[in-house]
Amino acid sequence: MTDSTQLPIDRTSHDTLATTGLDYRLLDVTDADAARAWLLAETRGFHDGARSDALIEAQTRDMAGDRVIGVWDSSALDAGSPLATVRSWIMDLTVPGGAALPAWAISDVTVAPTYRRRGVARALLTAELRTARDAGISMAMLTVSEATIYSRYGFGPAAWQAHYAIDTRRAHWRGPTPAGRLQLVAPASLLGEAPAVFARARRVSPGEVDRRTDLWQRIVGVYPAKPQDDKRDDLYAVRYDDETGTLQGFAVYRFVHENAAFPNRLEVTDLVAATDDAYAALWRILVEMDLTDDITAPMRAVNEPLSWMVADRRAVQKTDERDHLWLRILDVPATLERRTYASPGEFVLTVEDDLGFIDGEYLLTVDADGRGTAHPLAESDTDPSSAAARLTLTAADLASLYLGGASAVDLAGSARLTEQTTDAAARLDATFRSAHPPRLSTWF
Ligand SMILES: CC(C)(COP(=O)(O)OP(=O)(O)OC[C@H]1O[C@@H](n2cnc3c(N)ncnc32)[C@H](O)[C@@H]1OP(=O)(O)O)[C@@H](O)C(=O)NCCC(=O)NCCS
Repeated sequence: MTDSTQLPIDRTSHDTLATTGLDYRLLDVTDADAARAWLLAETRGFHDGARSDALIEAQTRDMAGDRVIGVWDSSALDAGSPLATVRSWIMDLTVPGGAALPAWAISDVTVAPTYRRRGVARALLTAELRTARDAGISMAMLTVSEATIYSRYGFGPAAWQAHYAIDTRRAHWRGPTPAGRLQLVAPASLLGEAPAVFARARRVSPGEVDRRTDLWQRIVGVYPAKPQDDKRDDLYAVRYDDETGTLQGFAVYRFVHENAAFPNRLEVTDLVAATDDAYAALWRILVEMDLTDDITAPMRAVNEPLSWMVADRRAVQKTDERDHLWLRILDVPATLERRTYASPGEFVLTVEDDLGFIDGEYLLTVDADGRGTAHPLAESDTDPSSAAARLTLTAADLASLYLGGASAVDLAGSARLTEQTTDAAARLDATFRSAHPPRLSTWF
């Protein structure tokens, strides 16, 4: 496994920024003062409130295994404070078929308002991509604050998230009543077993990524809070064990008291189910919770089966749906061969990449078992058959199609993707389709 903290700094971006007097380098995360300054700069970048010492200490500890980069200006009044930040690490992304693809996760991209629009973010992002590619990582990924920033670097939206509002007075449970056991537990008691349940649950959810230890601690409310976080000590949790006593799922939730009286609103902050029974049992107890009028459930899948489990499906309203995980392919054959496919096919993909990472023609052949083999066409001895579907598309659009969540037909209809052969986009959709729409239930 590559240790990204040991990789050299990208010389191209270092030299580009040096020409404007800026110093691009790795942060020494063992230097507590420097780490604090870096974290405060990142805080400022997202307009967050002041962080407690406890939070800074925890974050400094948790950055130890990450590649933490800053840009400094020695002529600034506060020269010890970086004007730009970025942090990255390698973690697994679930792809269709359930395999894990090690991907370069990029986070904490900020540039101080006083240095914006001078190309600093471009230097940071392109350096991350070059470093990942040179380390043999085939995919980069991030979650985004705005949808307008990253397609210029070849990222495309590839997994979605939806927010739901459920009117529990109207819903009326009509779903199954599983035979396992529900128990209310302290959220922190889930810390030990929850990661293993999530590891099983995520196999059917392309787009899910590893949940780091610090994220689990946040989910169960034992991580120091950010100033803008809701209260952390009001979390509840319920676990579902199957008939053999094995934990198969859990929900973490809180009650929101909008006025002093009942009823309350219930907010589901996390719900992980490794089996259909666990899913039904957990939603049933939440939907039937006494003294509760409605439920809000952010960061859920776009196709929650819940609406099929209640008498009045209009009681389950999707209040928001948006792109969440953005992917950037750095190695086309490696990524295409990692996932499995819904149906056989042969494709010639002509990829246009402004940054030059994956420009070129590729042949993808998917066999009857849904296994793909791919290689650059120029290096191939095997000519594609005349039956191959041929398409021209950008690196960003290939990334959007990769997890099976975007439609090539839609992209062709939007004049983003060009079909060189009849019905090439529909054929690609039939092969790339994922039984479970890609989703990502967390931020990173
Ligand atoms: C987004 C941010 C990092 C951009 O930094 P920057 O140094 O100003 O960006 P650059 O000067 O390198 O701009 C590169 C390109 O991105 C564009 N761009 C930058 N920020 C943008 C934004 N918020 N929306 C749309 N386009 C943006 C620039 O116009 C430029 O376009 P070009 O390639 O066509 O010339 C910075 O504005 C910031 O810190 N924002 C707040 C924190 C944030 O949202 N971070 C992103 C987290 S996912």
